[in-house]
Amino acid sequence: MTTSSSAANIEIIPRKTEFDFSGVPERWLVSAEASHFMHALSVLVPLTERLVITRLRNETHRVTNLQLKIEIQQVIKQEGIHARHHRAVNQTLVAHGFTAIPRLEAVQTMAFDLLERWMPKPFVDSIPAAMEHFTANISKSVLTDQTYWFGAQVETDASKFLKWHAFEELEHQAVCFDLYKHLGHKSLPFSLSLILFWMPISALSIYTIQTYFLAKSRKLRSFKHWRNYLKFIRKTSPIFFSGAWKYSKKGYNPWMKGDQNIHQSLKKEME
Ligand SMILES: [Fe+2]
Ligand SMILES: [Fe+2]
Repeated sequence: MTTSSSAANIEIIPRKTEFDFSGVPERWLVSAEASHFMHALSVLVPLTERLVITRLRNETHRVTNLQLKIEIQQVIKQEGIHARHHRAVNQTLVAHGFTAIPRLEAVQTMAFDLLERWMPKPFVDSIPAAMEHFTANISKSVLTDQTYWFGAQVETDASKFLKWHAFEELEHQAVCFDLYKHLGHKSLPFSLSLILFWMPISALSIYTIQTYFLAKSRKLRSFKHWRNYLKFIRKTSPIFFSGAWKYSKKGYNPWMKGDQNIHQSLKKEME
């Protein structure tokens, strides 16, 4: 049986790569705002990916499509590798004085426990697709607007890691949305959950943590700093607040031509 990924000829392969974050400067992207946005994201990634892995593992027995089962296993493997690298990034950040990270992770653990325990089953089943909606949006921004994110900064292992992770994230959205549909759920509640819950909560969480990083780095001490930060939020907020309705459109296919082209153009570089 085909899946969205197999129909688009997308093969999901866990690519083993090693990175060394020890010598990476605090500002490794084009600006302090961009760098700390990615640091904020990194704080949330290991537990988010663990939750995605758990949800996928728990639902695999309900999957009757063998191809989808294989793709889910590959996504699980990729996410496991990503989470390991992000934990290394976060340890480096703690060593550089961002000591609130373990407390932020404790809050995230509590929030995820509450979601899994108290939310209705269709909502819990939608968690991987919702998470992958955001990582795909962020990944597409990073990969297609490299001048905005990287500028003329010298390439470091952090920037190589970001591009590599963004590329693999492109492959997850289709698998997780296929699974959501395969479990018998409808697109409209998913779109609504993105708009009413996931979009505001994701934007609020990331910008709050980014504010912590910027404040700790003394990048919120002047009018100019705040102006730069607000400009950054204006530019990046569409990443959180776009694309929710596409899932409910008739004939929606997770591998749209534009996304296939991005994947195709970077495939050689990543393998
Ligand atoms: Fe990932
Ligand atoms: Fe992912």
